[in-house]
Amino acid sequence: MNAVEIAEAVSKLVEAAFDAAEFPFAFLEAFGNKASTIKQLRSGHSNKSDVDGGLLQRNHIHLAVCETGQVSSKLAELRDSPANVKNKVKFILATDGVDLEAENLISGETVACTYPDVADHFGFFLALAGISTVREIRDNAIDIKATGRLNRLYIELLKENEDWGTEQRRQDMNQFMGRLIFCFFAEDTDIFRGENLFTSTIDQMSDSRSENADHVIGELFRAMDTKHEDRKAADIPRWADVFPYVNGGLFAGSKDIPKFSRIARAYLLQAGNLNWKEINPDIFGSMIQAIADDEERGAIGMHYTSVPNILKVLNPLFLDSLREQLEEASDNARKLLNLRKRLAKIRVFDPACGSGNFLVIAYKEMRAIEFEVNKRRGETHLKSEIPLTNFRGIEIRDFAAEIARLALIIAEYQCDELYRGQKEALVEFLPLNTQNWIVCGNALRLDWLSVCPPTGTAVTNKAEDLFLTPLDQAQIDFENEGGETYICGNPPFKGSRKQKPQEKEDLQHVFSGLTTKWKNVDYVGAWLMKAAIYNDECDAPFAFVATNSLCQGQQVPITWVLLLERGFRIRFVHPSFKWSNLAANKAGVTVVVTGVDREQGGQRMIYTDKSKREVTNINPYLTEHEISVVPAEKKPRFTAIPMEYGVYYSKSAGLMLTADEKDMLCTNGLPLHFLRRFLGSTEYINGKERFCLWIADDEVEEAIQLTDVQERIDNVRHDRLETDDTAVNKLAAKPHQFRERKGDDASKIFVPIVSSENREYFPAGLVDRSVIPTNKAFYIPNGPLWALAIISSKLHLAWIDTICGRLRTDYSYSNTLGWNTFPVPKLTEKNKSDLTQSAEDILLAREAHFPATIADLYKPEDMPDNLRAAHERNDEVLERIYIGRRFKNDTERLEKLFELYTKMTEANGKIGGNKNQASAEATAP
Ligand SMILES: C[S@@+](CC[C@H](N)C(=O)[O-])C[C@H]1O[C@@H](n2cnc3c(N)ncnc32)[C@H](O)[C@@H]1O
Repeated sequence: MNAVEIAEAVSKLVEAAFDAAEFPFAFLEAFGNKASTIKQLRSGHSNKSDVDGGLLQRNHIHLAVCETGQVSSKLAELRDSPANVKNKVKFILATDGVDLEAENLISGETVACTYPDVADHFGFFLALAGISTVREIRDNAIDIKATGRLNRLYIELLKENEDWGTEQRRQDMNQFMGRLIFCFFAEDTDIFRGENLFTSTIDQMSDSRSENADHVIGELFRAMDTKHEDRKAADIPRWADVFPYVNGGLFAGSKDIPKFSRIARAYLLQAGNLNWKEINPDIFGSMIQAIADDEERGAIGMHYTSVPNILKVLNPLFLDSLREQLEEASDNARKLLNLRKRLAKIRVFDPACGSGNFLVIAYKEMRAIEFEVNKRRGETHLKSEIPLTNFRGIEIRDFAAEIARLALIIAEYQCDELYRGQKEALVEFLPLNTQNWIVCGNALRLDWLSVCPPTGTAVTNKAEDLFLTPLDQAQIDFENEGGETYICGNPPFKGSRKQKPQEKEDLQHVFSGLTTKWKNVDYVGAWLMKAAIYNDECDAPFAFVATNSLCQGQQVPITWVLLLERGFRIRFVHPSFKWSNLAANKAGVTVVVTGVDREQGGQRMIYTDKSKREVTNINPYLTEHEISVVPAEKKPRFTAIPMEYGVYYSKSAGLMLTADEKDMLCTNGLPLHFLRRFLGSTEYINGKERFCLWIADDEVEEAIQLTDVQERIDNVRHDRLETDDTAVNKLAAKPHQFRERKGDDASKIFVPIVSSENREYFPAGLVDRSVIPTNKAFYIPNGPLWALAIISSKLHLAWIDTICGRLRTDYSYSNTLGWNTFPVPKLTEKNKSDLTQSAEDILLAREAHFPATIADLYKPEDMPDNLRAAHERNDEVLERIYIGRRFKNDTERLEKLFELYTKMTEANGKIGGNKNQASAEATAP
């Protein structure tokens, strides 16, 4: 169940008559528990409660119904239950059907409300359904409810009006929903005079079979698009005439209304009956945009960047400086006036604005500061001087773009009401202006200077119908020419393998002429580049949230190098923090905030959730060490030990065997010398077996004596001929072999390509001839064991983590970035023999636990003592070679490595030169 469905199930439960015996089961059912789970709990099998009348679902909740008036004491009883700890209970809940109290035993948060009101607190319990969510969403039931009801309405309307779901009409549908949302908000805020004016007019004027609901709504929309003086001529019906003239392009253009079924009419009335006054434009917008998306509908908060995360961008970018100025101005009227003028001239531009949450938060925060200024100057009666049109955005999806504009309009109204009172807010609200300051289009194809021009120009973009506004017309006068511009946002991140052809073309468009390596750039890199290009004309510091991959691996030598060459520097950073929102598929994403400008000197700050630190430098790997970038190297730069990629096996399915298939072939007489174990990271780490046929050119005749082998080889030939890829077609000439014939060395250091972030060490190992590494691994043929000692060290892991980047959150190894660049000082024979010894000790320690897998051995909490001790000794030996003692932490490790890297590369010619590998070894200082 998703959050919307849970919200509805809980509402239904509490709206029905309270059934004390049923409640505990019904509550769990509302949070998505299967009938079989409930059955088991009912039977008592899985009910672990030790409280009278209690129900305990292991790992989840302990709840009980009590006598009237006994809720608090029952909750206390539940809290004291010894069964909680044993069964890892997260929530306790007690109710008597009148009141309800609950507690999150992990966070200590509590809820106390009347029984029916638990429908507004369902977010508190979302973890019961495995949904982890940020607090803002959890605590704002109104936003979830509104989304849920609109969701249902949307689906119901599409059922009745199938053509509105097509590509051609989707925009009409989105426009219609945008208009509805505006009306719901307006009727609850007195923008429309009269109690629930919009919803109740539809209720009264449309018949309950819903035959004329579309006509009624159409007439209301027509009224809102007609000036009062023109209404007579336009024949606006009297019941619609009470609606104000709204303008703003919102009701202009097509007045087509979808046909309403009875159910759709009911959903519309239900949505209208919510109190829209309380919606949060930043949260609601992020949620609501998903309803227009078939894949994301119901996935509340999919694109949601939480307010604390937005502030990680906006505060250091410019809000902190405004607050400092306020602080400094104290009660000095002139200084306060200067600040107000500054505020009025600030432009905030989000070139991937979604539903506008960065812009809304920026606007609200600036209004708060302006209010404080006015308060200190005794001028709270003054109208705000901060123009909404200074909050610019580009968004590719039309519905989200429309919602962004609505969200800003709503935010403006709410701020006016808060700071100036409802009367003033209402006076100034309508009609809306027609300016189009949120542009719907592809940010990588639009000229940002035209969307957010640096100087004042005449108003060129007034549109009657916002949806039909040409995309290249976004010039709006900035009355307040000469102000500061800040670019911010959370542009889409997408690694090069996941990009669609159109997105690849976008990258090419942005990077052509700048680098030939644009194919490897993460999609988000293009926003950084566009922001840098924008800065050629207009000084505009920029800060984005992006996946941490932007500051790792090959993104650094491509995108960041281009920025550094243009004179940009990283002014502030919020290194790696977990992205938290409701969407399950975003759960594991780690993101960073980087703030960039061209100002020389000045503060540079590294922020964490708990601290901030001023530093003299921030490099593109987001540490303070003095280093620019570490480019990939084709050959090892500081050792003479080459590390190879394993064997590529696409279009070679016939050559690969499961353990059963291998056994079958052996039973049928296949000689063992035709077989090898075929291992990549997963097989190596988890101890899984996979095999392959390994046939030399002069052995083919012998191998195909076995019909099974002949068939397998024929299949490979067929597969390779079937594709359009001519390089693969050529490989059909040698169907008995993989693309490469390598890896058959007597001994190899095996290096998995990925390893879980939870492991304290990168678990490389030693394999013999029986193993061929796949291209999901690297290997050092006949490598010396001292190299294994290095790869297994904490020192190397710190380098890999920073330079190679991660795959999702896992360590991701790269020979060109990680091994070939790793600074190894000149090793004496004694050093090598000590390291060889410690590598042997690690292997022996693992051996002692045979048949435990690497995954078993490297579980951080269960790592065997002897293995941990062997690694400790290995680290001790290696770190003493580098600095004569153990490093204190990874920061110190990286500092040393960066220092060595810089020294050794300077001593060894230009980076990327690869000259004189053997002589590259330097003595560690
Ligand atoms: C990660 S979301 C962030 C949206 C919003 N700031 C938030 O936090 O909810 C990225 C947004 O970029 C939009 N987008 C994707 N590609 C785009 C493009 N080429 N041009 C403009 N917007 C784009 C997406 O539709 C999405 O709304």
